Amino acid sequence: MDLRKHLIAGNWKMNGTLDSINEILKIDQLCNGYEVDIALCVPNTIISKTNEAISHKKLVIGAQNCHHDESGAYTGDVSAKMLKDAGAKIIIVGHSERRQAYKETNEIVNKKAVSIIKSDLQTIICIGETEEEKNMGLTNKIVCTQLENSMPSISDENNTVIAYEPIWAIGTGRIPSIREIEVVHKELRSLVSKIKGKDIANKMRILYGGSVKANNAKDIFDLDDVDGALVGGASLNSEEFMGIINVC
Ligand code: PGA
Repeated sequence: MDLRKHLIAGNWKMNGTLDSINEILKIDQLCNGYEVDIALCVPNTIISKTNEAISHKKLVIGAQNCHHDESGAYTGDVSAKMLKDAGAKIIIVGHSERRQAYKETNEIVNKKAVSIIKSDLQTIICIGETEEEKNMGLTNKIVCTQLENSMPSISDENNTVIAYEPIWAIGTGRIPSIREIEVVHKELRSLVSKIKGKDIANKMRILYGGSVKANNAKDIFDLDDVDGALVGGASLNSEEFMGIINVC
């Protein structure tokens, strides 16, 4: 029996206004009846209205980042509790775009994940190596260090999803070889097993992200230790996103 239900999560990044809710409604209608879990992490500004509009049968709405504190003097920031209030059920943390542009460290990512879990939400913790690190043969070392330090002690298979996203594969149309993805995912699961025990490791979902499209998804999803995908560009269009869900 498959212990892990696949999750296809879309990451809309800084794209989408109230007009875009029509595209989300198409996904909401089309995705009913699928076995997989489906989420869309949209801009904070449309979470609330999107939640009012969707059917709540299958599609779950999420966010892409939060502050690690619940409230306070943090101008411009939004907490997990506030995103929950708006209707988010799942929040991405540690995306490489935030690690790189906002200098988010593993420790910050860890604190954010704690605040999300304590708000009774799910978190997707992203990790991944740069092209330079890959070329130096450091991929496993880098992603394992990130995972070990970004995943809080309170993480378990219900509140946490891991997303392996090679930075050089994001938005580039390039992906690692299937064998490379397989090796990294195996390594990550064995690390989760070491930290959390075999039972949690067997049930925790590890997604692949980075240029996932309908035409490359099958080989990726066929891998035992890949439990779905975090999808950027291809999640913005209902047909492309549904194409990936169909493959899954
Ligand atoms: P991409 O982005 O699918 O456009 O490569 C993935 C991500 O950034 O999560």
